[in-house]
Amino acid sequence: MSPMPVSSSHSVALNTGLQMPLLGLGTYKLCGPADVYQAVDAALAAGYRSFDSAAVYRNEADLGKALRELLPKHGLTREDVFITSKLGPKDQGMRAMEGALHSLSQLDLEYIDLYLIHWPGTQGLPVADDCNPGNRAQSWASLEELHGQGKLRAIGVSNYTPAHMSALMQSCKVPPAVLQVEFHPRLCQPELRNLCKEFGVCFQAYSSLGKGELLTDPVILEVAKNCERTPAQVLLRWAVQQGVPVLPKSSNPERILQNAEVFDFTLSDPDMDRLSALDCGHRFCWDPSERFLILTPLSSRLTNSSLILRSCRPYFLAAHREGGADKDRPLNGKPSVGVPTSSSPLACSSTSLEMVEAMDSEFSLTRPANERIKDKWNRQA
Ligand SMILES: NC(=O)c1ccc[n+]([C@@H]2O[C@H](COP(=O)([O-])OP(=O)(O)OC[C@H]3O[C@@H](n4cnc5c(N)ncnc54)[C@H](OP(=O)(O)O)[C@@H]3O)[C@@H](O)[C@H]2O)c1
Repeated sequence: MSPMPVSSSHSVALNTGLQMPLLGLGTYKLCGPADVYQAVDAALAAGYRSFDSAAVYRNEADLGKALRELLPKHGLTREDVFITSKLGPKDQGMRAMEGALHSLSQLDLEYIDLYLIHWPGTQGLPVADDCNPGNRAQSWASLEELHGQGKLRAIGVSNYTPAHMSALMQSCKVPPAVLQVEFHPRLCQPELRNLCKEFGVCFQAYSSLGKGELLTDPVILEVAKNCERTPAQVLLRWAVQQGVPVLPKSSNPERILQNAEVFDFTLSDPDMDRLSALDCGHRFCWDPSERFLILTPLSSRLTNSSLILRSCRPYFLAAHREGGADKDRPLNGKPSVGVPTSSSPLACSSTSLEMVEAMDSEFSLTRPANERIKDKWNRQA
């Protein structure tokens, strides 16, 4: 079947007047020039006109290069695509201007369509640290300045809680155009959606497929079977049918195409309701309101392999090391693990690589990984 082009009507108007496509390609974990090129090529062919990157994905340069090479091939120009990137938590605060300019130079673009503060915290500080509100305000002021210069056509935030949003709305000169947060049938975020509606902020979804894990949910499988669509299409349709823009990530050209075919069918009201009834507040990604309890007193009684904690990005990253001796050596190709800041290493009897995988997701321990660590802690402490 030839791809159904994503027409300009499949977009939402931002409070800046810009149109943002309802469908964009997520690029987290799309790494390396060849993989990025292949995915962008498939996406442009399938009708995607929006791409979601971030400083921390380390693929801004590859995305910029792929677009420069591929736009002419698809008969498109820079103006035909909508590029999003995000300020890394390490640049939150004083370095925000530098961070945003670095994104522009990595992408090699004169302007970025949408630039978001990726996370309300600051790398190296706990979520509730007193410096974070000032850092957020400083970042926002830098983004406002670059917006005024036309370098960031729209500015917004990601992973903000209702409290962060309310504070920003009270202090900003330029209101955020977008709030990008995790959103799928198991996490419907009614409070944030209502707030966005009230403030005129576009609510945008990430991890619509639950990082792939929702694709085997029995209710979603049943709805998909009844409407002769794939589970991914049902999940994406459920969001866009409510006017919520989505950013499915795939590195596979067939799945990239499949995920674009969500504008030629409708889910019935009962099916929409069935999906929305799955809401249980479940997160596959990080929780900006959560302070991970594993950071409470660490026991030196626990031996075997060690789970080393450090203040990493805005939260604490835990990593597993067999033996636990050399704390700074890279771990199975994962980033090296720093020396813990406020606590000594937590030893944990059998931290699994599965847990490390879970923790290697964007910035955070997933809730299940956090729960497993807490359980283990409670059993052993
Ligand atoms: N602002 C933030 O803090 C934040 C956080 C998370 C995500 N995001 C953004 O949102 C994007 C999407 O979220 P996400 O990457 O977490 O996960 P997602 O889009 O929910 O799921 C991606 C996973 O689903 C698989 N997949 C995609 N389409 C599929 C299909 N049709 N059938 C079967 N499997 C399929 C992908 O594998 P293959 O690649 O092998 O197809 C990948 O493993 C990110 O890439 C990023 O741009 C932002």
